[in-house]
Amino acid sequence: MGQRTTLSVIKADVGSIAGHHMPHPDQLAVCTKVLAEAKRRGVIIDFYVTHVGDDIQLLMTHTKGVDSSEIHGLAWEAFKEATKVSKELGLYAAGQDLLSEAFSGNLRGMGPGVAEVEFEERPSEPIITFHADKTEPGAFNLPLFRVFADPFNTAGLVIDPKMHEGFIFEVFDVYEGKSVKLSAPDEMYDILALIGTQGRYIIRRVFRKADGLITAVVSTERLNLIAGRYVGKDDPVAIVRTQHGLPAVGEVLEAFAFPHLVAGWMRGSHFGPLMPVPQRYAKVTRFDGPPRIIALGWQVKEGKLIGPADLFDDVAFDETRRIAQTIAEYMRRHGPFMPHRLGPEEMEYTTLPQVLKKLEDRFVKISPPPVGVHKREA
Ligand code: F6R
Ligand code: MG
Ligand code: MG
Repeated sequence: MGQRTTLSVIKADVGSIAGHHMPHPDQLAVCTKVLAEAKRRGVIIDFYVTHVGDDIQLLMTHTKGVDSSEIHGLAWEAFKEATKVSKELGLYAAGQDLLSEAFSGNLRGMGPGVAEVEFEERPSEPIITFHADKTEPGAFNLPLFRVFADPFNTAGLVIDPKMHEGFIFEVFDVYEGKSVKLSAPDEMYDILALIGTQGRYIIRRVFRKADGLITAVVSTERLNLIAGRYVGKDDPVAIVRTQHGLPAVGEVLEAFAFPHLVAGWMRGSHFGPLMPVPQRYAKVTRFDGPPRIIALGWQVKEGKLIGPADLFDDVAFDETRRIAQTIAEYMRRHGPFMPHRLGPEEMEYTTLPQVLKKLEDRFVKISPPPVGVHKREA
């Protein structure tokens, strides 16, 4: 029996250089210091610190299970230290994602994004962690559906006996705070009916049907729903276990070869293509984007994080990036028009109520209403 290990990926935007571009190296250094000290004390087994765009990413392995207050507290301490650096250096939006002053035992609902998985290590445990900026958790819906339910993406669904029964998707309703488990392929159309509304129904976890093995976890925090105001997009993370009866690394990455449109980008209020990039391009400049994602490949051995392999650092993804550039160009030409700009209910902030108020007296009723004017409920 392998060791029971927990992998916690916790991220937050606590300030960055030149607007919402990228953290300062000193912020990453203080996070590294906090986690190195925790490793020395034996609180965690291993860790890795990086960033995507303006979000600091903490990866930690330990044996304390998911939702451990000790581990969440550690991440909180690291982000607090990074916020201190932000304030000292006058970085932009210092402490942005820390919605509360004091830590109260669990990070959920406090601002940072959290994806955690506890598992019994297989003899070899290949894992991919995904980290995105300028988008939201629903950005994972399309690729994860394709990985775990589309045989045109994942050959293993057809030819690997361990995967042939399919997978269970846990779909989370972020408005109601409840989730439902649905089975693929048999309930595939029900799954799609929900997750096509990616701002509301989010794939939270995926399990192998044959034995219930947990295979994927997504951070489902939506900051603005928590805070009740604009505080930035929710820049999600995900963990996917791979190989040996699970989708192969290449099958998981293949789902990102199509740069699908995701909500986020400038002011969290525009649709744009999700561009898979190597770590060195994990910073956002064109119209604060376009939305970006990196994939880090790991082997987890007795809790040790062996890696990372920078998985999108491959010329085979050049064409995806080129198409993403073309889509970015095409979408940008729409300026303030939908569907480049999000619909009013999904925008992070809007002047529409003020504009309507200002024009209140200048709207004149056309009477009788011309044919084709819809009657709407008041
Ligand atoms: C989107 C993002 C940026 C900012 C934009 C405006 O997630 O972080 O696009 O929304 O730079 O920033 P403020 O409102 O802080 O001037
Ligand atoms: Mg920011
Ligand atoms: Mg961000």
